[in-house]
Amino acid sequence: MREVHVIDHPVLQDKLADLRDRHTPVGEFRRLLADAGTLLFHEASRTLTTRQVSVQTPLKRARAKRMAKPILLVPVLRAGLGLLQGILPIIPTAQVGFIGLQRNELTLEAEAYYGKLPRRLARYAVFLLDPMLATGGSSGAALRQLQSRGARDLRLVCLVAAPEGIRHLRKSHPGMPVFCAAVDDRLDEQGYIVPGLGDAGDRQFGA
Ligand code: PRP
Ligand code: URA
Repeated sequence: MREVHVIDHPVLQDKLADLRDRHTPVGEFRRLLADAGTLLFHEASRTLTTRQVSVQTPLKRARAKRMAKPILLVPVLRAGLGLLQGILPIIPTAQVGFIGLQRNELTLEAEAYYGKLPRRLARYAVFLLDPMLATGGSSGAALRQLQSRGARDLRLVCLVAAPEGIRHLRKSHPGMPVFCAAVDDRLDEQGYIVPGLGDAGDRQFGA
């Protein structure tokens, strides 16, 4: 299976264009990121396993399918919250866990400051949500945390990825499925994705 899935859907790409635009105001940025979350989740959930069930329609019994496992959505604070907003309305029964990570501005190392996850993660199909895969330090640390708590059925949903971050995850988590809307050129000296969209946390919530 391919590891990195770049979702080249016209509606998603149109939203990404607005998200990249420096003139997009904060309210609009939040709405667009939620829409992108919906569209990315649609693709990232395509291979979820299902089980056969039978339901009674107003006319007769029908064979139907249900998702085989409960869904766990895990946004990386803060920026992952924007993607979460677009996914919860279509999977309102999902459980939500939280991982708080802050990149140290000098070393670019991800420092953990919060974690709240359900028990027994092996039961879930887990979606880690973080719009930016830059050095890969944050996503790598979050994936390690989830795996150490038993998560096995796991994928990363991001919006923009840097080649450096993809290389990082290939080494630290070979075979991990990554869903994104774009793979950009590179990182700059401050660890920002170029051309990217700037600081995804600041653009949603202010500095
Ligand atoms: C941003 C972003 C990712 C991380 C990506 O978070 O939301 O979590 O940087 O960078 P990396 O791949 O090099 O680790 P940040 O640390 O700025 O925190 P914030 O979302 O609270 O602003
Ligand atoms: N985090 C962001 O929010 N943006 C980047 O470009 C890199 C890391």
